[in-house]
Amino acid sequence: MSVTCVFGMQWGDEGKGRIVDLLAAQSDFVVRYQGGANAGHTVIVGEEKYVLHLLPSGVIQPTTTNIIGNGVVLDPWTLMEEIDGLAGRGIELDGRLLISDRAHVVLPHHKTMDAALETLRGTDALGTTSRGIGPAYGDKFRRAGMRCADMLKPERYQELLKANIGAWNAILDKAGMPPIDAVSVVDEMRAVGERLRPYVADTTSVLLDAWKGGRAILAEGAQGFGLDVDHGSYPFVTSSTTGPAGVAAGTGLPPKALQRVVGIAKAYITRVGAGPFPTQDTGPAGTHLAEKGHEFGATTGRPRDCGWFDAILARRASFTQGCDAVALMKLDCLSGLDEIKLCTAYELDGKRVTAPPAYAGDWERCVPIYESYAGWSEDLGGARHFEDLPEAAQIYVRAVQDVMQTPIEMISVGAERERFIPVDGGIPDDVIPDSGVAGGVSA
Ligand code: IMO
Ligand code: MG
Repeated sequence: MSVTCVFGMQWGDEGKGRIVDLLAAQSDFVVRYQGGANAGHTVIVGEEKYVLHLLPSGVIQPTTTNIIGNGVVLDPWTLMEEIDGLAGRGIELDGRLLISDRAHVVLPHHKTMDAALETLRGTDALGTTSRGIGPAYGDKFRRAGMRCADMLKPERYQELLKANIGAWNAILDKAGMPPIDAVSVVDEMRAVGERLRPYVADTTSVLLDAWKGGRAILAEGAQGFGLDVDHGSYPFVTSSTTGPAGVAAGTGLPPKALQRVVGIAKAYITRVGAGPFPTQDTGPAGTHLAEKGHEFGATTGRPRDCGWFDAILARRASFTQGCDAVALMKLDCLSGLDEIKLCTAYELDGKRVTAPPAYAGDWERCVPIYESYAGWSEDLGGARHFEDLPEAAQIYVRAVQDVMQTPIEMISVGAERERFIPVDGGIPDDVIPDSGVAGGVSA
């Protein structure tokens, strides 16, 4: 019996899709458990680039069954586009894609409302992806949502939709925007429901059977720990539980089924949308990272802000989510920098802070305390063993591992499948001289 969770430890865009694609080769099932089409997971195979928003990143491996779990908010139109797009490239999903009958539907007006609510927030806008995520989860939790099972039964949802739309129209009116036409939404739902009908199933039963039957299941997180609705930089967060804590709720597998947790973190950090970002670098180093890392949103195309690895965030992610191992991504993008900084603590109002503050305004005011590391100029794309890395890179990676107190078991040195370094059991102490970083919860 094996259930593994892959989740983001930063502010999203860590490279989860790439690792899920790799691990999917040994998995029977890949399941998304939260989020929706706000995700943009990129998988590169040879010359081909796939950007997935709702489909699990296991779809590229030919033998996996892919599940959109009950915890996801599903935009049926985006999903159909993705299914058709892959079919056009020779990847057929019939028989290996299942959608939970309990997953909530992102309705057309949820996207309109996402934009309207941002308008109403004015200068306090969150910078959402406009994919309707907040309104769809909002409807779910105020118990006014529509689920995939409802989508298949028009006689059921007509009244439900009318009530739902009535509540939203009151807000649209306030924002000076035209009301939603309930009749047209009902018509749109009818067509899309028929199209998706073959995929909708009781995926909880499928997953429970798979788990009991000893099949390998991979749970794919979207977004990242810093965007978690409880633990992230609230309110500058997404509307779901992004880490392995969300797997049981979002799939129906019991919490005890989870055997392994792999956290994904870039060797630096990026953020897109509003909210605190203490380690942002607005100088030449930030520009270097943006350019080398091609840091543009896979969903919205927005440029991502770039900065230095934030150990406060990563350590909190690792400890609260029970990380067994970390995959450190995009190490190759640091090549060419003279100096690499690593944030090991913050200073706030003259005090040393080692855990993220609850109040986003405080988090915003935090001044990072950095350790400084020597950079390297070598291209890392060809490295396949830890020892292949230049010594400066080894020292930096080791420092990141120390400060997170979690073994780094994979290092990515390029976007292609083969460009990665497995480090079984993490980097051993005796490989390179100790970097001298203290680490520790209270470091
Ligand atoms: P992946 O899975 C990076 C950010 C948005 C915004 C905030 C709320 O590709 O890592 P939402 O649309 O969810 O209500 O937006 O969260 N955000 C992401 N940032 N990667 C993502 O997903 C994100 N999904 C949402 O930019 O700041
Ligand atoms: Mg993304």
